[in-house]
Amino acid sequence: MEKKRVAVIFGGQSSEHEISRVSAAYVINQIPADKYEVLMIGITRQGRWLLYSGGTDAIKDGSWENDTNNKAAFIAPDSSIKGLVVITEGCCKIIKLDAVFPVMHGKNGEDGTIQGLLELAGLPYVGCGVLASADCMDKIVANTIFESLGIDQAAFTWCYASDYTKNPEQCIADIEAKLPYPIFVKPSNAGSSVGISKAADREALKKAIAVAAKEDDRILFEETITGKEVECAVLGNDEPVASIAGEIAPASEFYDYDAKYNNAASQLFIPARISEEIMSKVRSNAVRAYRAIGCTGLSRVDFFVTADGRVLLNEINTLPGFTSISMYPKLMAASDVNGSELVEKLIHLAFERS
Ligand SMILES: Nc1ncnc2c1ncn2[C@@H]1O[C@H](COP(=O)(O)OP(=O)(O)OP(=O)(O)O)[C@@H](O)[C@H]1O
Ligand SMILES: [Mg+2]
Repeated sequence: MEKKRVAVIFGGQSSEHEISRVSAAYVINQIPADKYEVLMIGITRQGRWLLYSGGTDAIKDGSWENDTNNKAAFIAPDSSIKGLVVITEGCCKIIKLDAVFPVMHGKNGEDGTIQGLLELAGLPYVGCGVLASADCMDKIVANTIFESLGIDQAAFTWCYASDYTKNPEQCIADIEAKLPYPIFVKPSNAGSSVGISKAADREALKKAIAVAAKEDDRILFEETITGKEVECAVLGNDEPVASIAGEIAPASEFYDYDAKYNNAASQLFIPARISEEIMSKVRSNAVRAYRAIGCTGLSRVDFFVTADGRVLLNEINTLPGFTSISMYPKLMAASDVNGSELVEKLIHLAFERS
C-alpha cells in the first residue's frame, strides 16, 4: 500500500505558539512511519511558512527556525494543486498532499482561519471545520449558542470594551445587575487563560476589564462557579465517543497560564474524583455539546462539577493541548486509545469527513 502524505503544521502567530510546537513534536512522533510520510511545516511568530526536515527536538525548543535546510513553502489555496508550493532558488516545486494535521492552538490555528485555507485547498484535515472552530474559539459566541440550546453553564453577560470606555458607569451597572461578585472577566477571544481575571469587587472589575481589553474588544463576564474542573476528550464525526473524564486540581486560585504550563503542582486525576452518575452525565453532556456546535474529529470539552451535582459546561477546545502530559491524549489512553492509534484515528476521521 502506498504511503499517504500528511503535512503537520505547527507554531503560528498565536499566544500559544510554544505549546503548539510541543504538541506537534508529540503528534509527529506518534504518526506511524510505515503508513504515512510526514511533512513538517512550521509557521514562525512573524507568520513565515517554512518546510522543515529536521528532528522533533528542535521543534520543541524552537531552534527548528534556524535550520539551513528550511525552505519557504505554503499550502496553495488553488484546489487544483492540492498541496504544497515549495520555493527554492526562485523556482517553485509542488508537493501533493493527502491530508493536513494542523497542530496549532489559539488564534490563527484553532479559530477557523487555517481551516478556511484548507477548505479552499480542497485538502482533508484533522479536527473541526471552519464554523465549529470559530464558534468555539469565541467565548461570547459559544456561550450564546449553548444558552440557546439549553446546555447548562455559568450565568454570563458581555460588553464591548469600546462601549465601556465611553460609559463605564452604565456598563458596570449592567454587569452588577446580572451577576454577583466574584465575577470572572475574560476576553472573548484569547485562550490559555490570557487576559482572564477574577474580580472580587467593583474596583477589581474595572482593572480586570482593562486587562481583558488588551486582548479583545469584546469582554465576557461570568458568574464564578465553585467546583471541580472536569474534562472529557471527545473523538469522532457523526457518532462521537467521549472518554472517561479527568479532573484538574489547579495549583493556584484558578487554572491560569502559569498553573497550566509553569507550575508542576497542578494535579491531574484520571478518572475524575466524581460519582459514577456524575461521570455519565459529564460524558453525555460532552457529546451533546460537541454535536450541538458541530465539532468533528476531536475536541476537549471542559466542565465544572459543583458539590451539589450540577454539571456546567465551561468551554470546548477544538485543538486541545497534545503533548505527552496533556489531558486529551491522557484521557484517550485511559480509554484504551494510545498515542499512535489516536493520531491514526484522527487522520482517518479527516478522510471520512472530506
Ligand atoms: N465561571 C468560572 N467560574 C470559576 N472558575 C472559572 C470560570 N471561568 C473560568 N474559570 C477558571 O479559569 C480558567 C481559565 O478559563 P477558561 O477555560 O475559560 O479560559 P481559556 O483561556 O480558554 O483556557 P484554555 O483554552 O487554555 O482552557 C478555568 O480553567 C478555571 O480555572
Ligand atoms: Mg479552559
